[in-house]
Amino acid sequence: MQLSIRSVLPAVLDSVSQVVWVVDHRGDILYTNPAGLAALGYDDAEDLVGLPSHEILHPCRPDGTLFPASECPMLQPAVTGVPTHGDDEWFRRRDGSFFPASWWAAPIDLPEGRGVVYSFFDATETRELERARRERDAARIRADESRAAQRRIMQGIESVRRQTARDLHDGAQQRLVSLLIGLRMTRDMLPQSAADAAALLDRSIADAQTAIDELRELAYGVYPSVLQVKGLMAAVESLTERCAVPTSVVGEYPRRLPTEVESNAYFVIAEALTNAVKHAHATHIRISIELKEVLRIEVADDGIGGVAQDAGSSGLTGLGDRVSAFDGVVVIESPPGRGTSVRAEIPVPE
Ligand SMILES: Nc1ncnc2c1ncn2[C@@H]1O[C@H](COP(=O)(O)OP(=O)(O)OP(=O)(O)O)[C@@H](O)[C@H]1O
Ligand SMILES: [Mg+2]
Repeated sequence: MQLSIRSVLPAVLDSVSQVVWVVDHRGDILYTNPAGLAALGYDDAEDLVGLPSHEILHPCRPDGTLFPASECPMLQPAVTGVPTHGDDEWFRRRDGSFFPASWWAAPIDLPEGRGVVYSFFDATETRELERARRERDAARIRADESRAAQRRIMQGIESVRRQTARDLHDGAQQRLVSLLIGLRMTRDMLPQSAADAAALLDRSIADAQTAIDELRELAYGVYPSVLQVKGLMAAVESLTERCAVPTSVVGEYPRRLPTEVESNAYFVIAEALTNAVKHAHATHIRISIELKEVLRIEVADDGIGGVAQDAGSSGLTGLGDRVSAFDGVVVIESPPGRGTSVRAEIPVPE
């Protein structure tokens, strides 16, 4: 059995794609298989046999500095008897070009003393794959970081909106209400003769009432309290009650969702609804909300359509930014003359 394997060994060495290369105790090349010749750009083993392997493989480094044989780890097994391995060596081809190589060197007992048997391969492709993988990982990390930053900005805006709405309600609005009450009481206390003063007070009372109404609307636009207190469904219904175009709401979901999901969905719906009223000349708007593995919302009108995909305007752009910050997607379909549909999918964290 042994004999028959010995007899086919030369054929095995000729056919394997791995380089097998043997150097003697001085480091001179004794043998190379065809893969070893091909890797370095030689045609004939006679061109290499007898030459110092270190001088052939890497007499200098790719930057041109000298690489003394005494520093070469590939020759060490002949001295130490211990196998070595390296992944970041550069070898020189016959034409003078360099390639990165991974190599293995093991001691081998030869009649004249201990030599070394080498195997190595051209690592250009492996390194290229590694570099591409590192770049891909870095790009993914950068994208994750920028999405996280986008999300933090959105959350910041959200909390400023909530705070502003609360401040408007608790501060200016309450003070205006008490001003109104004071004015009314003063007016009631005036004698009949003071008719001019009463008329003036009446105007002030009307102004104060208007200011309160406007402030309430403003606070609602900044962050509707119903969204915080009763949730998305109630807030959307309250939106549609104020809407100038007949609007139906379909769908439901059984539970409150995280604040950021609800307010994200609400402001998408609010913007799409405002757009439909402002631009679409629609006769009907349909809002649908459903919770599957993500929260799916759609605002569809039967208006003029034709929204440019790259409108570059603040409303639609902000809508995309808002949703993508939470890993969601917005799709706008708006064929001319056939209405507009704004669909968003917003992931719901566990
Ligand atoms: N539902 C719609 N039907 C028809 N056209 C629309 C509709 N929605 C948007 N558009 C068109 O797309 C443009 C961009 O919309 P977008 O919401 O980005 O901006 P805007 O509503 O004009 O301003 P902003 O939202 O910043 O107040 C609108 O000016 C309008 O021409
Ligand atoms: Mg808009």
